[in-house]
Amino acid sequence: MSDHEMEKKLMRIISDIAEGRYSDEIMELTRYDVPDTTRTIAEAVALMMVKVEAREFKLQQLVDELKELNEKIRKNTIAAVTAMAQALAARDIYTEGHTSRVAGFSYEIALELGLKPEEAEYVRLAGALHDIGKIGFPDVLFSEHDARLPSELVKQISRHPAIGVKILEPLDFLGPAIDYVAAHHERLDGKGYPRGLKEDRIPLGAQIVSVADIYDAITSERPYQKTRTPEETLVILHDIAGTRVRIEIVEALEKVLRTREQT
Ligand SMILES: [Fe+2]
Ligand SMILES: [Fe+2]
Repeated sequence: MSDHEMEKKLMRIISDIAEGRYSDEIMELTRYDVPDTTRTIAEAVALMMVKVEAREFKLQQLVDELKELNEKIRKNTIAAVTAMAQALAARDIYTEGHTSRVAGFSYEIALELGLKPEEAEYVRLAGALHDIGKIGFPDVLFSEHDARLPSELVKQISRHPAIGVKILEPLDFLGPAIDYVAAHHERLDGKGYPRGLKEDRIPLGAQIVSVADIYDAITSERPYQKTRTPEETLVILHDIAGTRVRIEIVEALEKVLRTREQT
């Protein structure tokens, strides 16, 4: 290789390195038979490359550690919030287990509908937290579930999605799950609460939680209602499909139930 060719090679290697393509080629230009100037530059570049590579490696390690830590914090916070939701459910023996069942159904329905696991995770969280807004309610609301509740109390109950949002809002990592909590009592026909949202204005995650919530409420034992079998409940859900809930979600729930039966 002529001196000129070596210089050209050096320039090419330097621009490669500048663009992040590291290679051992530079070492060939640090040999004793390379002209002084080219060799000195090549040696400096080789040294710089090693240092940059080491730094990048260290940086990547730090990023990985941060990611891990972040994930740990996220999991711990979810555990804390879920514990809060379970503490709420424990006030009412009839709804014990309701939140975790709704969370489980919500997650499985979401997957059945083709949502990605990350998206389904938000739906699961919303399922676990859907009634968190009832936390400040007086005990009477938990013990007397009949239709003759004074209108003032009914009004208070209808505020629980909004109160839930207030409680959960500071928790960034809940992302869209907060919107699902906000809208879990909306209905397709716009007769739900608190906003009377219609059809596609209701986030899919909220619609999923709603179906899981209704299904679990009807199939569980509560003092103010007769317990229905899963089959009876699915008939009810089909009856309200189109007005209150979306038929595709009811069908997805049916598939989930069938899969559960098989395993
Ligand atoms: Fe609710
Ligand atoms: Fe519920």
